[in-house]
Amino acid sequence: MGVDAVTAFAPATVSNVACGFDVLGFALDSPGDEVTAVFAPAGVTIDDIIGDDGRLPREAGRNTAGVAAQALLAHLGERRGVRLTIRKGLPLASGLGGSAASAVAAVVAVDALVGAKSALDVLLACALKGEHLGAGSAHADNIAPSLYGGFVLVRTPNPPDVVRLPVPNGLTAVVVHPDLEIETAKARALLGDTVPLGDAIRQWANLGALVDGLHRSDFALIARSLEDTIAEPRRAPLVPGLATIKKAAADAGALGCSLSGSGPSLFALCQDATIARRVAAAMTDAVKAAIGGEAQTYVSAISPRGARVL
Ligand code: HSE
Repeated sequence: MGVDAVTAFAPATVSNVACGFDVLGFALDSPGDEVTAVFAPAGVTIDDIIGDDGRLPREAGRNTAGVAAQALLAHLGERRGVRLTIRKGLPLASGLGGSAASAVAAVVAVDALVGAKSALDVLLACALKGEHLGAGSAHADNIAPSLYGGFVLVRTPNPPDVVRLPVPNGLTAVVVHPDLEIETAKARALLGDTVPLGDAIRQWANLGALVDGLHRSDFALIARSLEDTIAEPRRAPLVPGLATIKKAAADAGALGCSLSGSGPSLFALCQDATIARRVAAAMTDAVKAAIGGEAQTYVSAISPRGARVL
């Protein structure tokens, strides 16, 4: 006897993590998106989306969760269909991996509804089809940590080769979401197709060093490595006051601070939760001074738990 309805939660994620453009990401405890799936005679339809002020496409073929669910049903050869209800806990175009979280929650809910128990890399590949629609590019640095949890490196998205990285005791993330929206596709259009060799050398040196710092809990090395020579300099004009916000984080004791994904959210990594609370206050003040409006601030461990059925 199967179940009639399954709801899954998928957490917010910080992608890029400064030196890991398109390849590094980690999961937060919360917030996140929820998707409820129920059986339908055929195909995928979206019953409702709650929390998006009516802005996301209701047509399943144009919605990240709908496309991801459809990809999983097709992969499984499942003839039954599903109806989805999406609850957006994540603000739109925030840099917190909202389209990835919806796609991941959809595949986890649908997989449990049909009782398939698919491998994580199958779910990743299907969720990636949804993310591709949302971001215009098939990068998995939000999908992978939202699905697997923890701190991950995506060696290749397709076929999925996800490397789980260790998280030093105490390492705590701060995320501040300013009152701005940035569409990932537009932020990617700023990057161009080529990178000066010197910038690339510095980026992969930092990426290797950050991975080593995580393995050995070497906070000083982690701090030196949290530098983005590729995406952040090109996207900086999208976030007023970025340099002063980064300085506020550093002055308050952060190991490093950069854009979360394609922004506008900013993240900082901190050695412990006490420092993180101080950094969160300093960054929030700096964001309000530079950008105005309301900011949302989150302090979270790097969550070992990825998406799950509720
Ligand atoms: N790595 C991606 C980017 C994350 O920075 O464009 C946003 O989807």
